[in-house]
Amino acid sequence: MSKTVNWGIMATGKIARTFAKAVKFAEGANLYACASRSAEKAAEFGKLYGAEKSYGSYEELAADHNVDIVYVASPMSCHYENVKLCFEHGKNVLCEKSITMNTAQLEELIAEAREKNLFFMEAMWMKFLPSFLKAREWFSQGRIGQIKAIRADFSNPVEYDPNDRLFRADLGGGALLDLGVYPLTLTSSFLGCEPERILSEVNVSHGVDMNEAVILKYENCDLTSKTIKSDKQNTKSNTEMK
Ligand SMILES: NC(=O)c1ccc[n+]([C@@H]2O[C@H](COP(=O)([O-])OP(=O)(O)OC[C@H]3O[C@@H](n4cnc5c(N)ncnc54)[C@H](OP(=O)(O)O)[C@@H]3O)[C@@H](O)[C@H]2O)c1
Repeated sequence: MSKTVNWGIMATGKIARTFAKAVKFAEGANLYACASRSAEKAAEFGKLYGAEKSYGSYEELAADHNVDIVYVASPMSCHYENVKLCFEHGKNVLCEKSITMNTAQLEELIAEAREKNLFFMEAMWMKFLPSFLKAREWFSQGRIGQIKAIRADFSNPVEYDPNDRLFRADLGGGALLDLGVYPLTLTSSFLGCEPERILSEVNVSHGVDMNEAVILKYENCDLTSKTIKSDKQNTKSNTEMK
């Protein structure tokens, strides 16, 4: 019989609640613990979603020996330090998007995960959508043919709220890191190569990017199906869970 995986949820915001509800439906997954910066919030969250343990600090969650993997659901600007904390305690991590604020942070975390043989993955749900997987399968079988262009967008009407992480630059707010990552992930998942040129037009307001248009120019990329990589190759940050 396969082992039950004990999940710990770090942060108790909107997406953490969605995750806590969903984890019940995942085979072999047990919502074991949750943590908040406030002990009260953690206790309320733990009670609501049936976690055995609730902690009033992220450190305590990371240090719990019974936690197999931590789901990091804090705002973007906290991910780097939250993931580092988990790695210090030898914890596997599933981290919300955008996984870090920049490439340097991500490269450092990937290197640490590899060194410690820890599982580390961005919670990019789009890569698990049946329609996405089917499109990739058809592309790899040559059923779609050669890619001439990819047009992808994602937008959401959101009312301005100065306290919302979306409008707070200090928390990694703005459209690119919140939604722009989806079309960019879609593109890189299919093409698997780096663009030679990136052109962008950004509309900034309230100190964050409200929207942007990005053109990625691929000049030396073979856009036929043979270039498609497996999910394993594409998510280089994934290492086997201990
Ligand atoms: N995959 C998806 O579909 C999806 C959807 C929405 C969001 N997300 C991602 O999930 C992450 C969280 O988004 P969210 O919408 O859940 O945000 P949120 O509702 O604002 O919750 C974020 C939580 O992070 C914790 N936190 C830690 N440090 C914080 C700080 N300095 N300021 C504010 N909160 C802090 C807080 O929990 P405690 O007070 O309990 O510590 C807070 O409740 C983001 O990376 C976002 O991109 C993913």
